[in-house]
Amino acid sequence: MGVKIRTFRPSDAKTVRKVLIDGLFSNIDPAFFVGVRRPSVIVSVLVLTALMYYWTLSLLYTIAFFVALLCLYYLTLLVAAHLLTMGPLFDDIENVQGNYMKPRRNFWVAEADDGQVVGTIAITLMNLDKPANECADDVAWLRRMAVSEKYRRQGIAKRLVETAIEFCKRNKYRRIELITTEVQLPAKALYERMGFRCVNTWARREYGFVLWTFTLIYDIQQDTIYY
Ligand SMILES: CC(C)(COP(=O)(O)OP(=O)(O)OC[C@H]1O[C@@H](n2cnc3c(N)ncnc32)[C@H](O)[C@@H]1OP(=O)(O)O)[C@@H](O)C(=O)NCCC(=O)NCCS
Repeated sequence: MGVKIRTFRPSDAKTVRKVLIDGLFSNIDPAFFVGVRRPSVIVSVLVLTALMYYWTLSLLYTIAFFVALLCLYYLTLLVAAHLLTMGPLFDDIENVQGNYMKPRRNFWVAEADDGQVVGTIAITLMNLDKPANECADDVAWLRRMAVSEKYRRQGIAKRLVETAIEFCKRNKYRRIELITTEVQLPAKALYERMGFRCVNTWARREYGFVLWTFTLIYDIQQDTIYY
């Protein structure tokens, strides 16, 4: 099965959005397991379950209530993911051409044999929202990495990252920066294997959820051999 990496074309817009949204939804299961291990969630669920038993004195109702709480938690994550797809998180891919197809920026896709887009990655400038004089133009921001579930563990993300690193070298960036989270541990493993290192771990709040987030950087000059 041959997959080629090429630059984005306007006709890819719809499938790019689909690959990225599927990527977001594939993180719901890891987010659920991260969430249910949080002490605050464990304590809340146990207290509510104990109250249910105290109130009904029925083991059956208590177990059903416990399962319902877990289902509710999963449903909340699904709703949060839907809200994220409708909010500003995906604004940049509404206009890939305008946002990425500019000097020193790029958006690539992985295209399968049948022409289907199965992976994405982008490079842009870090801190685009800051005034031009405050924006470090030697730091590249790696974003929008995703591979369709059916095509994972075939080295596609590795090839996408290699393409982005080569592009950053050619464009005289000093450093590549990205953020990833505790529910994207496969991505973190991939980046670290390719020579990125974690320089900061911080708590991000998203719709009331706390998400441990990692800032990773790749120093262009290091010429790391990662395999
Ligand atoms: C992260 C993601 C892009 C990886 O794509 P992929 O094409 O499967 O990755 P690759 O096959 O190129 O993997 C390269 C290396 O990364 C690491 N890796 C990838 N997936 C992994 C996993 N599930 N668990 C552990 N390590 C993993 C391994 O070291 C792997 O090398 P190996 O297969 O020889 O062991 C994909 O899982 C994905 O799209 N996830 C959802 C979206 C997302 O979280 N994006 C990241 C945004 S920061």
